Amino acid sequence: MRVVRAEYAGACYGVQRALDMAIEASEGGEGASTLGPLIHNPQVVADLAERGVHAVGGPEDVERGTVIIRSHGVTPAVRRSVEERGLPILDATCPHVARAQRAAADLARRCGRVVVVGEAGHPEVEGLVACAREAGGQVAVVAEPADLPDALEAPVGIVVQTTQTREALDAVTAALSARGIEPEVKNTICFATRQRQESAAALAGEVDALVVIGGRNSSNTTRLADICAAACPRTHHVESADEIDPAWFADCETVGVTAGASTPEDQIAAVVERLEAL
Ligand code: F3S
Repeated sequence: MRVVRAEYAGACYGVQRALDMAIEASEGGEGASTLGPLIHNPQVVADLAERGVHAVGGPEDVERGTVIIRSHGVTPAVRRSVEERGLPILDATCPHVARAQRAAADLARRCGRVVVVGEAGHPEVEGLVACAREAGGQVAVVAEPADLPDALEAPVGIVVQTTQTREALDAVTAALSARGIEPEVKNTICFATRQRQESAAALAGEVDALVVIGGRNSSNTTRLADICAAACPRTHHVESADEIDPAWFADCETVGVTAGASTPEDQIAAVVERLEAL
């Protein structure tokens, strides 16, 4: 059985950087904490806990040690709260997210009204909203044009959650234009998610079966599995190589492998090795 890996698969730049920073922090004596799980990957979170890096609910749960800010970033208030506790901060905010936060604040100062295209309640979106509000802006979070508030007047700035699609941004921009508002758009979309989705879809059309690796609680991995299943019904979502059942691959000549943006390289390598051994 031939094992083919998707061109883009696994940990994106921001997640890998956060993981490397957390492992480095674990080597420093006092232990470290992450504000929420570092990534949506139970194996990685358990491994970090063994190394002394624990996920906590908020700054108030930390007595000592370094506080690691996740790749999604945090609100300015959370950052201040860590500082007030006198705890050292290791900022693993993805540089793309940090750029979106700066864009949100900048738009708030210049336009006064900011539309955040994204998923309400997501930690990254909460950070963007807070940055815009602290800079004096009125903020609306919209996933689609129907979410736009009725009473919106120019000038309006738009900033985007990094994992959103270009289509979602364009739809919201077009809806504002149709109301006679030409928004100032800061396109802060990161292409890591799109690259993984497009290369998984291409692979799904070429193989007999497909394995998608990543946390079941990872929305980007679940989305990847849905995309693959649409083109390749023999798609299996696993969290680790141990879950692989040889019966899934009866009569298969080629099997594809892909992984979400929160899946580290060693988990992918273990799955590829197991498949090659079948
Ligand atoms: Fe950063 Fe893009 Fe990953 S924003 S955390 S590189 S999906």
